[in-house]
Amino acid sequence: MNNPTANPNVSQSSGFSFDTLQRPTSTVIRPTPAKQSITPACFRTGFVRAAHPRVFSVRLRSDSAEALAEVLPLFLCGEESAVLTFGQLSAMDSLSAVDRGRLSEIGNDEAWHEIWLSGLRAGLPTPRTESTGSREMRLFYLSLNDARIGMHLARIAALDSAVCVILGLLRRRHGALASDARLSDLFARIHRDEARHAQIAAIFARQRESALDVYHTAHATRTSLIRLLLARADALEGLAICPDRLIRRLSHLPGQLLS
Ligand SMILES: [Fe+2]
Ligand SMILES: [Fe+2]
Repeated sequence: MNNPTANPNVSQSSGFSFDTLQRPTSTVIRPTPAKQSITPACFRTGFVRAAHPRVFSVRLRSDSAEALAEVLPLFLCGEESAVLTFGQLSAMDSLSAVDRGRLSEIGNDEAWHEIWLSGLRAGLPTPRTESTGSREMRLFYLSLNDARIGMHLARIAALDSAVCVILGLLRRRHGALASDARLSDLFARIHRDEARHAQIAAIFARQRESALDVYHTAHATRTSLIRLLLARADALEGLAICPDRLIRRLSHLPGQLLS
C-alpha cells in the first residue's frame, strides 16, 4: 500500500505504514467487507491506481461501519478534489517558488489521504446513498474553484478546518470508532495534516483578500458543507455525532480565517 516508489509523485516522507500499528485488543463485531473495487468516489486522479492500496479491514460494530460508509465518500471526494487542486495550484507561475513548494507539499499529503481513504472505503459496506449523493458532492467540490487563488484557498481553509472538527468528534475516546486503533491512528494522521492545511490556506487567503471577502466566502462554503452533512444526519448519529451540535460548531469560522 505505502510503496512510494509506486508513484514518483508521492514522497517517501509521507510514508505511513499501517503494518507497524498495534492491533486493537477489544472485542468488536467485524462486518463482512463489501466486495467493493477501489474506484474513484468523484474525481479520477491516477494516484490510487498507481499505488494499489490494500483494502483496510475495519474492526467496528456493523452499525458503525455502515454509518461510516455513508459519510466516507464525502471525505474521499474531497481528497480527490484536493489532489487535483493542489497539483494545479502548485504549478502556478504567478506564485513564488516557496509558495509553490508549500502547496505541493499539501498536494502530496492529499494524495496519501486519497490512497488511504480509498482502501478504507473498499473495506466498508456498500453505502445506500452513494449513487444519489455523488453528483451533489462533485458540484460542491467543483464550486470551491476560483480564479482568485486567495478566494479558492479561503474555501479550502473553511473546508479543511471543518473536516478537523468532524475528525475530532470521530476520534473521541469513547466514540463509535474507538474500538479500531488502526482506524483511529489513520484519522489522527489525517487530522494533523488537515489542521496544517487549514492554517496554510488561511494565511494564503488573508494575504491576498480582504477580511470581509474571506469571511463571506468561507461562510458560504461552510453553509454548503452543512447542507451535504445534513443529508447524512442519520449516518452522523450512527457515528455518535449529534448533527445539531455539529452544525452549530461548523457555523462558527475558526479564528485563523478571521484574524
Ligand atoms: Fe486531505
Ligand atoms: Fe487538506
